[in-house]
Order: sequence, then C-alpha cells, then structure tokens
Amino acid sequence: MLGRQRGEQRLAVDLFSHEAEFRRVRGQPSPRGPPDRVYSRGIEDAFSIGGDLRVRRLGFGAMRLCGPNILGWPEPREHALEVLLRAVELGVQLIDTALAYGPEVNELQIAEALFPYPEGVVIATKGGALRGPRGEWLDDGRPEAIREHCEGSLRRLRLERIDLYQLHAPDRKVPLEDSVGALAELRGEGKIRHVGLSNVSVRELETALRIVPIASVQNSYSLADRSSEDVLDRCEREQIAFLPYFPLRPVRFGVDPTVERIARANDATPPQVALAWLLRRSPVICPIPGTSSLEHLEENMAAAAGLRLSEEDLAPLGSG
Ligand SMILES: NC(=O)c1ccc[n+]([C@@H]2O[C@H](COP(=O)([O-])OP(=O)(O)OC[C@H]3O[C@@H](n4cnc5c(N)ncnc54)[C@H](OP(=O)(O)O)[C@@H]3O)[C@@H](O)[C@H]2O)c1
Repeated sequence: MLGRQRGEQRLAVDLFSHEAEFRRVRGQPSPRGPPDRVYSRGIEDAFSIGGDLRVRRLGFGAMRLCGPNILGWPEPREHALEVLLRAVELGVQLIDTALAYGPEVNELQIAEALFPYPEGVVIATKGGALRGPRGEWLDDGRPEAIREHCEGSLRRLRLERIDLYQLHAPDRKVPLEDSVGALAELRGEGKIRHVGLSNVSVRELETALRIVPIASVQNSYSLADRSSEDVLDRCEREQIAFLPYFPLRPVRFGVDPTVERIARANDATPPQVALAWLLRRSPVICPIPGTSSLEHLEENMAAAAGLRLSEEDLAPLGSG
C-alpha cells in the first residue's frame, strides 16, 4: 500500500537538483568552483546498459536492507521500503538485488516498495547462487537451477521480463559455458532483456562473450580494492557497464588518511570521496553503494552530483 501510494506520486523532488541537494545537506552556498577544479563525471552522464537502458551513473545496492547477515526481514520492515522509495526520489534508476539476498526477501521488498515501477527504473537481479541452511553462500550454476532462479525472480519482482539478469558468480562445479548458455536461452525466450556477470575474470568474461552479449559486469572494486582493474579496462573497451560492488570498502574498513584529508579539504565525507573517485575513474562505471540508512543514502547521492575533485586531489588516489 505504502509502495503503491508513494510510487504513484513519485519524484516529488526535482531529480536534476542533486548539486543543490549536496550543497543543502552540507550547508554550503551555491557553487562557483575555482577554475582549476573539474567536476567529477557525475551521475547525470547517463550510461546505457546494453545500449538501451539509460540510467544515471549512481545506482543503489539493496542487499543491506535485509535482516542481519543478509538473511530474512529486517526490523522494522517498513524502514527498508522507505529507503527504497527515497532512493528513487533522489534519482536512483538502477537498483541491484539478488535471489540470495534474504534469500528472496530483498526482491520482495523491492516489489512491495516500488511496484508498479516508475518509468526508467531498472531492477537488476542475480541468480546462480543461494543460501544454505546456516546462511552460507552457495553457488548453483546448473542450467536448470538458473532457469528456476530466474522464474522465481520474475514472480517476486512481478515482472514479465527482467531488464538485467546477472550470474551471481561462476560455479566452479559447472562449466561456465553451461551457466551462460542458460542465460542466453532465457534471453532468447524474452524472460531477460540483458545478461550480466558478477565475480568474473577477464578470461571468464571472454568465454561468456562468445555465447551471448554481456551488458554488465559486477565485481568488487573501489579505492581500496583494485584487483579487478583488468576487468574494468576490458569493460571500458567493450562498452560494458561495470557495477563496482563494495564501493565503500575504504570507509568500512578504516579510512585511509589520504581519503580523509581530501574529504576535509572538499568539505565532504570519505564515502563521498570514494564515490566521486569511482565516477571519475571510468565512464562505464556505475557504483551501487548500499545502505540501510536514509541519512547515508542522502549523503551518498549528494556526493555523486556535487563533489568536485581537483586534479591535485585525484593524483594521490591514482586512476588505476
Ligand atoms: N555481486 C556480488 O557478489 C556482490 C557482493 C556484495 C555486494 N553486492 C552488491 O553491491 C551493493 C553494495 O555493496 P555493500 O552494500 O556490501 O557495500 P558498500 O556499498 O561498499 O558498503 C555498505 C556499507 O557501508 C555503510 N555505508 C553506506 N553509506 C555510508 C555512509 N555514507 N557513511 C558511512 N557508512 C556508510 C553501510 O552501513 P549503513 O547501512 O549503516 O549505512 C553498509 O554497511 C550491495 O548492496 C549488493 O547489491 C554484490
């Protein structure tokens, strides 16, 4: 009920006022940056996933809206719905989820909060992994399992076709060709619009590209984890969207003093610097920061639109 009401009268705020929002949240006057400063490539530079899904370049990772250990429902349930609605109000057009989050709970939360989905909002989900009886993460990339996962996601999300369906991770017990082959079949049947991958190497990406067009790759990547640099470069060359997960890793595991200094110098916060750096790093990057906090959500969204990093700021952070 809440989702339907709010979804219908959605976007009461001006979606294109992020910079103003950033200034308001930070208590700053209207911006007129000195000439040596450059805007980070912002979220208004929309990127087309798969060539036809135009989304602003800051998405939302919904995983943190589940209960503890990404299992079950959170308490209170309604708070998660508020966060999802606010994310869309603030301009998020890409929401990332998975069967394994909850499991199932996260997809149900998204449908409850946002269905019927506002125009332009892309729900990206994943299959090929689920949770065991003690909450352990289990890969299951068998073609029949992927089909079952996808059909379950369609029902939970109340969709006839999933815009972006990602293989959560290659299953080492199953040839990758078989798992990707199942995704190609589902795409051929119209159940999936675009196929994405997650947790893959360049070699695995190449294998998949021989079977079906790949629209996105979701790997861990941030200021603090550049282990997927080669995958990102390959995505940039192929114009494949790169959705870095754990984008706020530098904030969660102790803030780097350089990031802290740059944040202070820009009257920003370390998470905002981490996100602005990602947006600047490559035009195919669309970060999907996660939060269960309305305050953090506003902070993260404002960062992407309003934070300017100078060349001097960027130099010690490295571009890759
Ligand atoms: N494909 C995969 O294998 C995979 C793996 C992991 C995640 N993911 C996806 O990637 C998304 C993002 O990953 P993630 O949520 O694990 O990591 P993240 O975005 O790097 O960090 C989220 C954590 O940072 C905190 N946080 C968020 N904004 C903050 C802020 N402004 N200041 C301080 N703390 C802040 C959150 O706590 P609060 O709730 O307190 O804000 C939360 O604990 C997930 O939601 C999921 O969709 C995919």
